[in-house]
Amino acid sequence: MMTESPEIQQVRTLLEQAQRVVVFTGAGVSAESGVPTFRDALTGLWARYDAMQLATPEAFLRDPELVWGWYEWRRKLLLEVKPNPAHRAIARMQAQVPQLTLITQNVDDLHEQAGSQPVIHLHGSLFAARCFECARPCELADPPAAEGGRCPPPSCSHCGGRVRPGVVWFGEPLPEQALATAFAAAQDCDLLLAVGTSGVVQPAAQLPGLALAAGATVVHVNPDAMSGRHPNEVCLKGQAGQLLPLLV
Ligand code: OAD
Repeated sequence: MMTESPEIQQVRTLLEQAQRVVVFTGAGVSAESGVPTFRDALTGLWARYDAMQLATPEAFLRDPELVWGWYEWRRKLLLEVKPNPAHRAIARMQAQVPQLTLITQNVDDLHEQAGSQPVIHLHGSLFAARCFECARPCELADPPAAEGGRCPPPSCSHCGGRVRPGVVWFGEPLPEQALATAFAAAQDCDLLLAVGTSGVVQPAAQLPGLALAAGATVVHVNPDAMSGRHPNEVCLKGQAGQLLPLLV
């Protein structure tokens, strides 16, 4: 059992008083479910795989079987994991706070599985494949065919084009409506919780700064030391699955 620090008490009071809260999550919120993050040394996906060979439109055009096989392997991993106490605490928060906007960079849909609704997806979802050519949504075989190796992408039933993962790749714009809603919520909140994100991928990384500039308090929940230099920033250092349940 984690002892209750003054920071925990401070954030709980802030949450009780806040009218408009933003929860902004990254890969770290799913780490305790067993989903690898991107930038943690050794275990992070981008420490083990080359993003430029796997997560760009050019990579897909160059070697669709490599890219599709890699994303299907990740989708298969996700079918074997469950939401953890951090996802569940956020879902409870969503039910308690007068207005809570949940914004995620994650593509694993674990917030939805924990009961959160709605969830703003800035980087898409691994479960929302679409056609690379005509962009129509495509149904995926369950369980995924790929076993971790190369795998040819299926064909779109409408135009015959190749099916691509429903995630935002490097060099692609974020979904316009989701980004606009996220920016507006950050600029109009009393409190923003940034949970398990390294805060280096733009434009999502701007959200905490936008909230601070608008006068909100920003709370970082992360085992790593986060910025915390602004007078309205609070750092809760530790794992989301242990800390977030203490707040609700
Ligand atoms: P990163 O892998 O960059 O950062 C994960 C963060 O989670 C790090 O700061 C870790 O310290 C922290 N962390 C690890 N375990 C944690 C735990 N149990 N509780 C809380 N925090 C923990 O992941 P993101 O910031 O999400 O883009 O990365 C942003 C984007 O970069 C991703 O959405 C992805 C990637 O390229 C796309 O897929 C488009």
